[in-house]
Amino acid sequence: MKNFYITTPIYYPSANLHIGHAYCTTIADAIARYKRLAGYEVFFLTGSDEHGQKIQRSAQAQNKTPLEYVDPIVDNFKELWKKFHISNDDFIRTSEPRHEKVVQEIFRRIRDNGDIYKGEYTGLYCTPCESYWTELQLDENGCCPDCHRPVEKVSEEAYFFKLSKYADALLKHIEDNPEFIVPTSRRNEMIQFIKRGLEDLCISRTSFDWGIPVPDDERHVIYVWFDAVINYITPLINSNKMEKFWPADIHLVGKEIVRFHTIIWPAMLMAANLPLPKQIYGHGWLVTDGDKMSKSKGNVVDPVALVEEFGADAIRYFLLREITLGLDGNFSRDALIQRINADLANDLGNLLHRTLNMIGKFQKKILLPANDLTDLDKSFRAEAVDTAKEFRRLMDSVQLSDAVKIVWKFIGRANKYIDETMPWKLAKDESQRQELANVLYNLAESLRIVSILISPFMPSTALKIREQLKVSAEFKLDDAEIFGQLESNHEVGKPEQLFPRILVDK
Ligand code: MSP
Repeated sequence: MKNFYITTPIYYPSANLHIGHAYCTTIADAIARYKRLAGYEVFFLTGSDEHGQKIQRSAQAQNKTPLEYVDPIVDNFKELWKKFHISNDDFIRTSEPRHEKVVQEIFRRIRDNGDIYKGEYTGLYCTPCESYWTELQLDENGCCPDCHRPVEKVSEEAYFFKLSKYADALLKHIEDNPEFIVPTSRRNEMIQFIKRGLEDLCISRTSFDWGIPVPDDERHVIYVWFDAVINYITPLINSNKMEKFWPADIHLVGKEIVRFHTIIWPAMLMAANLPLPKQIYGHGWLVTDGDKMSKSKGNVVDPVALVEEFGADAIRYFLLREITLGLDGNFSRDALIQRINADLANDLGNLLHRTLNMIGKFQKKILLPANDLTDLDKSFRAEAVDTAKEFRRLMDSVQLSDAVKIVWKFIGRANKYIDETMPWKLAKDESQRQELANVLYNLAESLRIVSILISPFMPSTALKIREQLKVSAEFKLDDAEIFGQLESNHEVGKPEQLFPRILVDK
């Protein structure tokens, strides 16, 4: 069996998650589910990034230990992912002993290879972002260029990673492997960044202790980003699955952390003599009115409230359809409701309802054998199969929103097929019995195919459709490319509403 390994970033438990975080995890989940459907053995990892001064300070402010502070937040993450039907195979917490062990092992290995040395660090540190900056990188107010909050000058004995040594090898790797950093815009940014020169990276701190101790020098804790990126191999090393799943197929990350994943992490891997991930995909941000969602800006959308109101599948559909992967996308409640009403309640919901209703009414719920197909029937069948094949091509090249769109194009085609063939008219004419059977069979079969194609995006809706069609819950992608798998004489179920229309208060 072929293997596939996909990761999301591990999230900071400094605040509750918002719909922007759920966006990243939903994309990864859709890809993981698609790969399972296509026959891969998948490992899908997400988790939480728990160390660092910021967490320690937040915990102190509440008179808690860092773990007491993060535990309930991390429980909320896990709950949220369940609500979103996220099918991760593991959840890594950087505070776990299994992670500490691997981080120390990698630190030792890189140090033994001569790429970690002790020195004196004087620099500007942004605590909220856990990032060091040089004078030149600061914004016009001398603040952090990412979050625009003040930076602190720190001076201390510290360990350094010889990042500069890897500049040429990294550049060569990025240039030789066009698929390594996607999309191209991010790839070009990283190439320019490396060409400006890489400095060695300070990878330890002594001013606080909530972190993984440097092996053999416990006054130091390891820099949170050095610690965090190693999460991607922790579960594999602990379960002897490195050979099976490493290198990762995709690290999916937001655009602002591409640098950590395409420069620092690969250089660390080179220094530890480990292979590099195959791809780092930098997705865009979910914005509200053009601005990145963040707690400090007060424009966050709470994913729990949203799921409770609209259901996970509707939100997943919206996120995956509306936003082209790699670009920023706008989240708006109005647009979400519009999509639910038009695409889900109307297009998909009606197709299922009309089809099952007619099979019930005209054929006592029984599918009859299809025979003597008309040209229209044949071209409709061909379109179903072509859609499944095109879907595979788009998903294989991670064009998620286009993949969703072609499924809905086919759903539109199926609704039009009903209007063109007018089964209610056929039902009134005894000589048209066969054609009626053909049309109803084709519609039921196309819904079976649709249920397979939407399953990576809308897993519970896919199951609901199958329950109503009364077909097996287990299909693979190949089953979408072969038309005619429903048995004739199969009895379908009763139509139930898939998505209620949302009434909009004017
Ligand atoms: N802990 C680091 C990642 C370490 S990975 C080894 C981190 N955490 S984070 O919680 O701040 O962000 C996690 C991910 O959420 C990032 O990829 C980030 O881009 C993404 N998002 C945060 N806000 C977002 C939006 N508004 N829209 C889309 N993604 C967003 O960075």
